[in-house]
Amino acid sequence: MIRKRLVFTGILLAIAIIFFKPTRNSQPGYLSPFGNLDRTKLDFSADIDKQSAIRAAFKHAWDAYRRDAWGFDDYHPLKRGGTNLVSSGGIGYTIVDALDTLHIMGLDTEFTQARDWVATELTFDRDGKFNAFEVTIRVLGGLLSAYHLSKDEIFLQKAVDLAERLLPIFSTQSGIPLSFINLKERQALADSDNQGFSSTAEAATLQLEFKYLSYLTEDYVYWNAAEKVMDVIRNGALTSGLVPIFIRPSDGQFITSDIRFGSRGDSYYEYLLKQYLQTNQAEQQYREMYDHAMTTMHHDLVRRTPKSNMLFIAELSPKFKREEQKFDWKLVPKQDHLVCFLGGSLLLGVTEGQGPFPPEWDTLSNTEKRDWITGEELIKTCVETYNTATGLGPEIAHFKMPGDPDADSVDWYIKGLDRENPSLTSFDARYILRPETVESLFLAWRLTGNQTYRDQGWKIFQAIEKYTKVEGGGYTSILNVNDTNTQREDKMETFFLSETLKYLYLLFSDSALLSLDKYVFNTEAHPLPRFDPPTRRFNH
Ligand SMILES: *[C@@H]1O[C@H](CO)[C@@H](O)[C@H](O)[C@H]1NC(C)=O
Ligand SMILES: *[C@@H]1O[C@H](CO)[C@@H](O)[C@H](O)[C@H]1NC(C)=O
Repeated sequence: MIRKRLVFTGILLAIAIIFFKPTRNSQPGYLSPFGNLDRTKLDFSADIDKQSAIRAAFKHAWDAYRRDAWGFDDYHPLKRGGTNLVSSGGIGYTIVDALDTLHIMGLDTEFTQARDWVATELTFDRDGKFNAFEVTIRVLGGLLSAYHLSKDEIFLQKAVDLAERLLPIFSTQSGIPLSFINLKERQALADSDNQGFSSTAEAATLQLEFKYLSYLTEDYVYWNAAEKVMDVIRNGALTSGLVPIFIRPSDGQFITSDIRFGSRGDSYYEYLLKQYLQTNQAEQQYREMYDHAMTTMHHDLVRRTPKSNMLFIAELSPKFKREEQKFDWKLVPKQDHLVCFLGGSLLLGVTEGQGPFPPEWDTLSNTEKRDWITGEELIKTCVETYNTATGLGPEIAHFKMPGDPDADSVDWYIKGLDRENPSLTSFDARYILRPETVESLFLAWRLTGNQTYRDQGWKIFQAIEKYTKVEGGGYTSILNVNDTNTQREDKMETFFLSETLKYLYLLFSDSALLSLDKYVFNTEAHPLPRFDPPTRRFNH
């Protein structure tokens, strides 16, 4: 009886949908966030004073690195020294990652010095174990964007040399790359700490770089290797469109593991959209994969706090249920700082980098409106996590769920902090100069012209200046964002130069600089030009 009624209702519903299929804009629920915006007052020009303050911060970091650690992969400003990723020598981690920022900021003398170092000192003939993803996004991406901006052939030569050394990672049975590479031996190595599994985000965040290199060289061996990965993932993906963070290189199967937009998951979704944008919206399959993932994300991961209705992106963790002998997904209300890329990315997905900015609300589909609102709200949440004693955001934020203790008085908190003992630190409480929130503010500014985003970015920059700057030169991580007397960790991450300061600089530049309809930024903020996909590609 009940079943019959259900079927009947189903038929009625189907009929209703056929006959009353809503037109694009008639569904209620997504009110325009632009209010009574006066488009004639929008001003996308540069804020020169703020730009020069950010350029000065870059100089403060760069000059110290040059003085203390020139040529080393990593810089330690307190010790005033450098270290390399492997003992056999450096691969230009800091210098190459910063090349395009030097170019964009017009630091010509510094760019020439860095260029000469690349020409005379840089070698990838290094015996040691390198993370292939990190080397691709920072070094290969850095060389490619330096080549694009300067047209100096040396960068392309080095990029080809590096990519050739990386290629063995793809020589697995499935085509899913191994995690590590010995650049000298050209030997790929599995991630033994994680049972030989590869990170999904790492496998699926090589494509912009390898495809652009093929476009430049007309050698499609790089393109094909990188694109094969996407085919394997598409075939093995869960029906939900979301992906677990580990995948097995031998057979391309996903491993039952966490699902998240934070570490090991994040840039898979970022590159779905950006691969579609890179080839001027020609590869529709990536748009479809992205849209599918965003819809499931809204159902399964987008949650709100009881107190202020603060939106956040939760994680799913598999829990084995012994009684039923199967896995169940448990919602974990935790958000990595890394997730904060997604706010801006959602806005980018709606506009595809094409004006008018902001978009005309009535021309958007309901899915686009949904993504836009979530993007704006997620940025708001990410900015709110910077509402700490230092004005900087933690590595990981936890959110209150209905029924949690204090859920009516607290929206979010940092795990491991002790109110009685504020000098105590925790992994979660660190700020390691990460870019994702200012990255989203940059995108949001470019795509709306809303001054609020510039103001918020400026406030973050000032907190960076106040709490992470080293008097004698450079910047470091801090161990507790909620303590104004926080301890420091003696490291200046290379992404501070390549991403955080670049996005801040671009937040205050004229919108015509690296315009979003002509560029995609790789996940390390290296701008790569968008291009029409080559019509003929040859396999090797
Ligand atoms: C600008 O952005 C802020 C923060 O999201 C929002 O509160 C405000 O309404 C926006 N203004 C306009 C004109 O869209
Ligand atoms: C930061 O410290 C203040 C003062 O102890 C406390 O009220 C607040 O909850 C802390 N913030 C976070 C995010 O832990």
